[in-house]
Amino acid sequence: MLDMPNIRDTLAAEYDLAPNPDLAAKMQDEYARMARVVSPADWAIHAPYVAAINALKRDRDATILAHNYMTPEIFHGISDVVGDSLQLAIEATRTDAQVIVQCGVHFMAETSKILNPSKTVLMPDMEAGCSLAESITPAGIAEMRARFPGAPVVTYVNTTAEVKAASDICCTSANAVQIIRALDAETIIMTPDQYLAQNVAAQVPEKRIVWWEGSCIVHEQYTAQDIRDFRDWNPGTRIIAHPECPPDVVAEADFSGSTKGILDYVSAERPERAMLVTECSMASNISDAHPDVEFIGPCNMCPYMKKITLEKVLWSLHSMTTEITVPEDVADKARLAVQRMIDLGAKG
Ligand code: 13P
Ligand code: SF4
Repeated sequence: MLDMPNIRDTLAAEYDLAPNPDLAAKMQDEYARMARVVSPADWAIHAPYVAAINALKRDRDATILAHNYMTPEIFHGISDVVGDSLQLAIEATRTDAQVIVQCGVHFMAETSKILNPSKTVLMPDMEAGCSLAESITPAGIAEMRARFPGAPVVTYVNTTAEVKAASDICCTSANAVQIIRALDAETIIMTPDQYLAQNVAAQVPEKRIVWWEGSCIVHEQYTAQDIRDFRDWNPGTRIIAHPECPPDVVAEADFSGSTKGILDYVSAERPERAMLVTECSMASNISDAHPDVEFIGPCNMCPYMKKITLEKVLWSLHSMTTEITVPEDVADKARLAVQRMIDLGAKG
């Protein structure tokens, strides 16, 4: 666990981090990307951190990969690459920087390390986990293989390196249907997200898909009744759900896709009003680029994603901690599963 009082004292001695309206006013280009969702007073608090992180990033030859669920000040203020899990995994293979700071959750940092064993991959808070990653171990994969002999195992990237290493191929919510369709097998095991598996099964009825019983604590909270009520109360709202939601929720939505799929849909359709049935920061992060769209609806936050803050990113770069390590034999096997996914996806 991070010793925040101590970290705060150390950072305050090294950097000028007091709220600074003058600096905030000078950093209008950065602010313009989040002005709809971050108040000027909050920007005066964030700006000194954003300035310090961006300067330190250059000194350390670091790049920041940020998931779409990061807070707007991280997403717009300090990131070099933003995207869904698939985009971040692919970008991790392309960076020239020597250091990768992962603004997301632990499995994303592990994936970056697996794909870049020679680079330093830093995680600002090692407690940024994931309920899906915690739901399964290699023993669970072995159990599924014993129950369905010969069936290939398709594992969501939201898993540990050990679980990936025990699997045949990975998938993300952006490419799961494509991966399942491409596999030459009648029965396919999908782990660990039962709802993603069920949503894929609905789109690929020619395959028998069996699944592990994991779920995402953010997306499992939505119910089909919530969506029906919301539609009744807000007629004309476009409802867009992530495929980690239960299938009856997805069935009530107008569109379902990965976080990149959601962004692409909003950009193409430009609905007057939209409800994003996913983590809360997603709507905040795309809000300024879509001023004509009104985003409404509940705000379900991922407590793991929200562990990443500007303060912890600054500490991570300052102290070069915490470095992600993956044992070589595990990384080699996990890399096969992740690379198979990337290669298969590239075939289109
Ligand atoms: P995508 O960004 O790949 O859609 O995944 C969502 C998610 O829950 C990541 O933790
Ligand atoms: Fe895991 Fe769900 Fe949080 Fe994504 S949103 S990190 S799947 S718990």
